[in-house]
Amino acid sequence: MSDITRCLFPAAGYGTRFLPATKAMPKEMLPVLTKPLIQYGVEEAIEAGCDVMSIITGRGKRAITDHFDISYELEHQIQGSSKEKMLSDIRNIIDKCTFTYTRQNEMKGLGDAIYKGKVLVGEHNPFAVILADDLCVNPKGDGVLTQMVKLYEKYKCCIVACMEVPKEDVHKYGVIEGKIMENNVHIVSNMIEKPDNDKAPSNLAVIGRYILTPEIFEIIKKTKPGKNGELQITDALCEQAKNGMVLAYKFEGKRFDCGSVDGFVEATNYFYNLEKKK
Ligand code: G1P
Repeated sequence: MSDITRCLFPAAGYGTRFLPATKAMPKEMLPVLTKPLIQYGVEEAIEAGCDVMSIITGRGKRAITDHFDISYELEHQIQGSSKEKMLSDIRNIIDKCTFTYTRQNEMKGLGDAIYKGKVLVGEHNPFAVILADDLCVNPKGDGVLTQMVKLYEKYKCCIVACMEVPKEDVHKYGVIEGKIMENNVHIVSNMIEKPDNDKAPSNLAVIGRYILTPEIFEIIKKTKPGKNGELQITDALCEQAKNGMVLAYKFEGKRFDCGSVDGFVEATNYFYNLEKKK
């Protein structure tokens, strides 16, 4: 068993790019085919060996809590019918995992959301972080978080997932600067949150998968608000990289930016075509 058994899901954001759909519904519950985005993330975390899913929610996010719970009336209603199997995956997830929740009361950034997770993941354990709107798949083998857990077992340090993006898109991401250490692994020397396109140190963008060691909480505590006045995990990790070691891992597989309408439609088409081939 790996050391990484807990996965944090920051899920307090408003999802304004999907209004009006997200007016009363959490963006993490938007379905790609019949499955909500956050369930894809939870399945990826289970595959990687996690069994505690810790979700940072906010106001208006109750649907997430209800999704990962039994729905007696509904399950009773469809018992014995052909529809029962449509709930078997989510039932398995509920049986296998423990779900814990806390709220981020104010939108103070991803660093703050992760800090709020300290009570859930504990202050002595390394843990994973998944941003559910980055939907990742690897049709050729291990899921992205599994790949990262394997790397963690080797180096026992913070790891961020990254991918090359077109130069004109770097301003949407945390961007890393680093030296190649081994195939697909960079040792990070600098990280900048959403730099101007012409000021980015590279086109290696951070994607929403992290493995963090517990010292990160102390570093976040000392980190000042950065880009957009928010507490950025990128800034905390940059500090960590300067004092110790942070790796950026170019993962195998595909990532869909389901925080944008284009990426969401692309993911939907991808999974629809997969289903049709079955
Ligand atoms: C967050 C992180 C950013 C990262 C991105 C990946 O930004 O702050 O560093 O590159 O996720 O999706 P967000 O997209 O939440 O603004």
